[in-house]
Amino acid sequence: MPKKIYIPKPDKYMVRCEGLVKIYKSSKSEVKALRGLDLKVEKGELMAIIGASGSGKSTVLNMLGGLDKPTSGELFINGRDMLSMSEEDYIRFKRDTVGFVWQNNARNLIPYLTAVENVEVPLLFSRNNKRRERARELLNLVGLSHRENNKLDQLSGGEQQRVAIAIALANSPKLLLADEPTGSVDSRTSDNIINIFRTLNTEMNVTIIIVTHDNSLAKSIDHVVRIKDGVAVDAFV
Ligand SMILES: Nc1ncnc2c1ncn2[C@@H]1O[C@H](COP(=O)(O)OP(=O)(O)OP(=O)(O)O)[C@@H](O)[C@H]1O
Ligand SMILES: [Mg+2]
Repeated sequence: MPKKIYIPKPDKYMVRCEGLVKIYKSSKSEVKALRGLDLKVEKGELMAIIGASGSGKSTVLNMLGGLDKPTSGELFINGRDMLSMSEEDYIRFKRDTVGFVWQNNARNLIPYLTAVENVEVPLLFSRNNKRRERARELLNLVGLSHRENNKLDQLSGGEQQRVAIAIALANSPKLLLADEPTGSVDSRTSDNIINIFRTLNTEMNVTIIIVTHDNSLAKSIDHVVRIKDGVAVDAFV
């Protein structure tokens, strides 16, 4: 009889975390930012995380994006165990699997470069030899072709946010994490940004997690999780 070969089922979850704990320690104090958080996000989902200031939203996103490591618990991204990954794999994961739009725009962008040059920065570390072409394509995707040669300080807040999204997409991530992407723009620009996320989600099958204070944005999203004191609770918005 032929030997049975075990083929593991592909994980339907992009994010699977259980009992996630994050403690920020300094010599003087200890902050328990996550207190046993459970979260599941399926591949291809567009979901939102809401919660009061200081509840742990950015902390979760940082764990999911590999920017910081949890203190304890289980965290699997795209089927990979994030707590037992080698440093080398961890760096590769950050480069290839995940894209990040930061809460603070200054962290996304380099002010003295033009829009198109900003988008080229993450491509410098990839094998892509058509950087300018790819950067232009990404700016087109976020509707900013007409502003590609403008320096960042010549762009509005919403336009800068769209450059940030283009940068996050540069290496074709499977998972896009956005921390308050509509935090400092008006409602029309906010609609425009959410429409870009929807297009990326439906047409390019990118799994997207958006942290937001914006209730109207959360209302338009099917899967919403509220974080309260470092744990996830069901949200009804
Ligand atoms: N690097 C850090 N060192 C120490 N404490 C931190 C650090 N980062 C966050 N915290 C604390 O952890 C808790 C959760 O912070 P976090 O930034 O995740 O909140 P948030 O939900 O994103 O808030 P906001 O809506 O204001 O952005 C807060 O009490 C915060 O002060
Ligand atoms: Mg935050």
